[in-house]
Amino acid sequence: MRLENKVAVITGSATGIGQAIAVAMAQAGAAVVVDYIGKPDAPKQTLQMIQDAGGKATAIDTDVSQPDQVNSLIQQTVQQFGRLDIFVNNAGIEFKHPFLEFPLDQFQKIVAVNLQGPFLCAQAAAKQMVAQGGGGRIINISSVHEDLPMPTNAPYCATKGGLRMLTRTIAVELAPHGITVNNIGPGAIYTPIDADIEANPQLEAQLMAEIPVGRWGKPEEVAGLAVFLASDAAAYITGSTYFIDGGMLRQAGSL
Ligand code: BGC
Repeated sequence: MRLENKVAVITGSATGIGQAIAVAMAQAGAAVVVDYIGKPDAPKQTLQMIQDAGGKATAIDTDVSQPDQVNSLIQQTVQQFGRLDIFVNNAGIEFKHPFLEFPLDQFQKIVAVNLQGPFLCAQAAAKQMVAQGGGGRIINISSVHEDLPMPTNAPYCATKGGLRMLTRTIAVELAPHGITVNNIGPGAIYTPIDADIEANPQLEAQLMAEIPVGRWGKPEEVAGLAVFLASDAAAYITGSTYFIDGGMLRQAGSL
């Protein structure tokens, strides 16, 4: 799948799944904006990987929950690369607590990043795509937990469930403009978001037992699906979630 002459923004692409998508899209020929938050050297590794692969990229610091910063991300992208074809809402966070003790401020932070962020980014990206003409691609990184409950992770699950319906609804609204909107729903992918489980062999074994394929997914495996959904070959695919979870959602749980 090639993405030549396309311009892609990937939020939260300093690490993990976002990093793998940024590198894969650059390898496929897209000019890439590595969106990150925090320290200026955070996106260095992703930029280096893209450079090593012979790709083209720049990094922009954006808090996706802030409308002004999101608008500026789109403006800077267009200033630098001339257009915007692909927007990947990947940035996401999770904090785990039992529901009865879940602090409101953490709930609000999760909603701001995982749901308000994709809403603002998809809206600003789609405005640019409509203005320039020729359609576009919006890809949201959701989770198996847009469907599957996860105790101690209620706000995260609620935002991913929200992303499911945001995608379905705006896919219908944006279809006349040639813009497709899809979710990717990863299962357990080996990234920093699961550092606590990766460092605990007992928890890790418990998680692996829930996955028919019996292993963590790799960020690159998710990236392959993102490149396909971003490509011209996926023009007729919109409004759906594509799970990539080693069979986790289909686990019967019986012996
Ligand atoms: C969560 C991980 C979890 C995985 C599988 C992801 O969406 O971020 O914490 O291990 O789903 O349950």
